[in-house]
Amino acid sequence: MHTSSPRILITGAAGQLGTELTAELQKLYGEANVIATDIRTPKNFQGIFENIDVTNTIRLAYLIDKYKITQIYHLVAILSAKGEQNPTLAWQINVEVTRQILEIAREKRLEKVYVPSSIAVFGDKTPKHNAPQYTILNPSTIYGVSKLTCEMLFEYYYQKYNLDVRSLRYPGIISYKAMPGGGTTDYAIDIFHKAVARKPYECFLKPDTYLPMIYMPDALQATLQVMHAEAHKLRVRTSYNIGAMTFSPRQIFEEIQKHLPEFQITYQPDFRQQIADSWVHSIDDSFAREDWGWQPTFDLPAMVADMLVHLQKREMAWA
Ligand code: SER
Repeated sequence: MHTSSPRILITGAAGQLGTELTAELQKLYGEANVIATDIRTPKNFQGIFENIDVTNTIRLAYLIDKYKITQIYHLVAILSAKGEQNPTLAWQINVEVTRQILEIAREKRLEKVYVPSSIAVFGDKTPKHNAPQYTILNPSTIYGVSKLTCEMLFEYYYQKYNLDVRSLRYPGIISYKAMPGGGTTDYAIDIFHKAVARKPYECFLKPDTYLPMIYMPDALQATLQVMHAEAHKLRVRTSYNIGAMTFSPRQIFEEIQKHLPEFQITYQPDFRQQIADSWVHSIDDSFAREDWGWQPTFDLPAMVADMLVHLQKREMAWA
């Protein structure tokens, strides 16, 4: 391992994004340079893992010293649906912990910090189609309010302390390796698990609810691209819009049905419908395209075909 490699600490490494991002970072920088952390220990983890409750920032600071960390990927967050059930916890985890991490990064002069934002920063006053990078942001969930606050903090720490914080406003992320928890876009993952189990799916959103989504390989690619971009190229110091695809429950159902003709769906909207209705349908990501070459690979048909191949393989292995 060459000594110039960054030394990375990831929070939320056992989560939906963390599981796959950790593996990518290990491939890029070597297992010895990537410290995965989470409140729960993942099964069969390969590499360096430390248990941590992120609210314990003293331990976090200790681990940063212990492993001579130079970059943090802070992925822990309480998502939209779970946040509405416990707004106080969402604020504490999403804002207070993030601010403390920025403080630690500033004090310890870390080279770079990555923290995700989300389409949840948009609201019902944001243009629904091709939501611009700079536009009205009136989030309706505590998740959106907290992520928007974080975006302001990223810019503040950059301007005031020259801390190099980078961020993406992820659409709903679709993946098969680790399950998401507590999001509104999670229906687009649950639906696959029912389909491959040959069970009908009861959707908690209405059939024509359009939301921006992204397939995990594209989300990983975008994350690494923004982290590797030259600092002077980054015009956005809050969080970059990124778009990949847009679809509704009806459309993803019909796409799955092309592969599994017996598959059935019913619709039983719950409180998450209101959350979804406050978000936008599609994203203008021209800043990301111009500044660091963002270009998604997967559209709806390609994503559905790939998800089904992987989940069916797993079904067969378990059978
Ligand atoms: N996937 C998130 C959620 O549904 C949106 O960022 O809460």
